[in-house]
Amino acid sequence: MKSKHLYKVGFAQTKPILGKIEINSNSIIDIIKSHNYDLLVFPELATCGYDFKTKNEIKKSSISIDSIFFKTVKKICIKKKSGIVIGFAEKSNSTIYNSSILINENGKMYLYRKSHLFYNEKKIFEKGNTGFIIGKVNKLKIGQMICFDWFFPEAARTIALNGAHIIAHPANLVMPYCQNSMKTRTLENCIYAITSNRIGSEGDYTFTGKSQITDNRGNIMKSGYRKKECVMFVDIDIKNAENKFLNTKNNIMNDRRNDLYEL
Ligand code: ACM
Repeated sequence: MKSKHLYKVGFAQTKPILGKIEINSNSIIDIIKSHNYDLLVFPELATCGYDFKTKNEIKKSSISIDSIFFKTVKKICIKKKSGIVIGFAEKSNSTIYNSSILINENGKMYLYRKSHLFYNEKKIFEKGNTGFIIGKVNKLKIGQMICFDWFFPEAARTIALNGAHIIAHPANLVMPYCQNSMKTRTLENCIYAITSNRIGSEGDYTFTGKSQITDNRGNIMKSGYRKKECVMFVDIDIKNAENKFLNTKNNIMNDRRNDLYEL
């Protein structure tokens, strides 16, 4: 049998309500049940909202990876034979991380904790310690990074060097630069990316929508609305992300000059 190389992947651009974890979780479950796909990516902190002021506040809206919510999502993933990435506030003993989780078609979970915390996040979350792990849905290899991680090219580069075909990128973007920059992140790594952003406002933050699927040559395949919730999909071919030749003479990974870089 020929191995599968085309995958239907997408984003769910949502508007989480701050602190209303049950409402947000139920709406995530409704969305994942009502579409067919191989991989669907939700925004950063999709279960709880963003603008928490203190550690005590975020604690009440944080959940562990053993929570009933993730058990339910896992069952749906197994039943539908598809994968999900969701951003959430993770409670691990008494520590809170800004995390995302990939749950695959067999119910296997791959946890990522945000490496580069943005602005006030430094007050309420612990810095991530998982590194840029790679998970799999069928043959599709997926690396995760969360929102502001995009600003550090080392994150996307590490994910590409670790063999991913696609970056699942849950986000709560508040600056105008990311969508454009993802064209370069994907081109320079010959990798696909799904930036799943949220919409709406909380306190001083306005989230910029325009979730984006970018291909391995820096082209925008799909762009979400600026102010409306939406779920959008494209088909991707993993063979495109496996071939790192830009032309017959330049392989972008083999041509790297590690002997000259001070990284
Ligand atoms: C961000 O990292 N949520 C801007």
